[in-house]
Amino acid sequence: MANNLTGKFLVLDGPDGCGKSSQCELLAKWLSAQGVSVECFRDPGTTAIGEKIRQILLSVEHESMSTAAELLLYMAARAQLWKEDIKPALSENKCVLLDRWLSSTCAYQGRAGGFGMEKIIQIAEDSLERAWPDLTIILDVDVETTSKRLGGELDRMEAKGQSYHEKVREGFLGLAKQRDDVVVVDAGQDIQAVGENIIAIIESHFK
Ligand code: TMP
Repeated sequence: MANNLTGKFLVLDGPDGCGKSSQCELLAKWLSAQGVSVECFRDPGTTAIGEKIRQILLSVEHESMSTAAELLLYMAARAQLWKEDIKPALSENKCVLLDRWLSSTCAYQGRAGGFGMEKIIQIAEDSLERAWPDLTIILDVDVETTSKRLGGELDRMEAKGQSYHEKVREGFLGLAKQRDDVVVVDAGQDIQAVGENIIAIIESHFK
């Protein structure tokens, strides 16, 4: 398994509150235990430029931001993350694990924001050195469950409302229907069961 996962680019993605950050931690531990050298990054963020862009994107002060401005900022943060962190790690044959990536832009700005997934994919393919990871796993969970999980103050994206977030979920599921390298896992179960399903998907995809 370790050999099959060297130099691979993996993504966990899904609606807000789907549990992907905890699953990234669990998966990174499992990968390390398999002898895989793994590096984890979050998108948007990680780089100094990306973290600043993230603040702009998530600040509730920027309620009037257009979908086009959103998607270009997400793409800009991603281009920087690729250059500074992902590309160097992959070129050292590390396994790279991302908390979100292009699948999020497809679901949020493409589907829920109404910009169109095809146009987003075109922009990504034109502006990123590499648009598609080796495998994207979508943690699928219904909006009722995620809104219960999201506590405290909501950021600008989380605060977009139920119908927006229902479309986000549809966007992720639609993308998985279109692409063999985007796979859905049921994230409504307990954290341990979801983690086991993610590992089973990875083992079967890279066997
Ligand atoms: P996070 O809190 O999971 O790190 O994600 C930040 C927020 O940004 C989350 O609400 C999802 C949203 N997002 C997009 O709308 N488009 C994107 O391309 C990405 C990567 C995230």
